[in-house]
Amino acid sequence: MSFDTVEQNRSRQQFDGISSVWLFGYGSLIYKVDFPFLEKRPATIEGWARRFWQGSHDHRGTPEAPGRVVTLIQQPGVRCKGMAYRVSPDVFEHLDVREKNGYLRFTTPMTFDDGSVEDGLVYIATEDNAAFLGPAPAADIAQQIARSSGPSGPNRDYLLNLAEALRSLGDEDSHVLEIESHLR
Ligand code: BEZ
Repeated sequence: MSFDTVEQNRSRQQFDGISSVWLFGYGSLIYKVDFPFLEKRPATIEGWARRFWQGSHDHRGTPEAPGRVVTLIQQPGVRCKGMAYRVSPDVFEHLDVREKNGYLRFTTPMTFDDGSVEDGLVYIATEDNAAFLGPAPAADIAQQIARSSGPSGPNRDYLLNLAEALRSLGDEDSHVLEIESHLR
């Protein structure tokens, strides 16, 4: 798959006649909300684990020295906590560019804290994308994050902002917390 997913995402879902769509954020979308939204609610998706397994060539690293950012990996029984936003479909014109380094939009059921369920879109960088890095020991991931930086700033800020945002959501993501403690 190519590095740039903008064109692929444009043809993935049709928004004709739809005034709003739910978007599930599990990474930088939780703390970097640079798009308008109509409503915002904590939510959980099932069967997916948040992992620092995606390379970042355009935000928190460079093509020569990629940083590491999160993607979702299918894992039965695991829950991923995040933030859901109800947005106008034209928000995806901005987000598809922001998240163009390997991420495709998928549809997922999301469960809100009151137990109600809605379908939402979620950006996932699958294992076949050109920037995928895959698993590594937590200490090695922390070292890579510590030395990486890109146009959006130091990779360490991405990790620390995400860890703080997850604490604010009342989430305990052992993968993120372990890498955070190695980094600190
Ligand atoms: C998110 O925060 O949901 C997100 C993470 C990586 C890429 C795109 C979106």
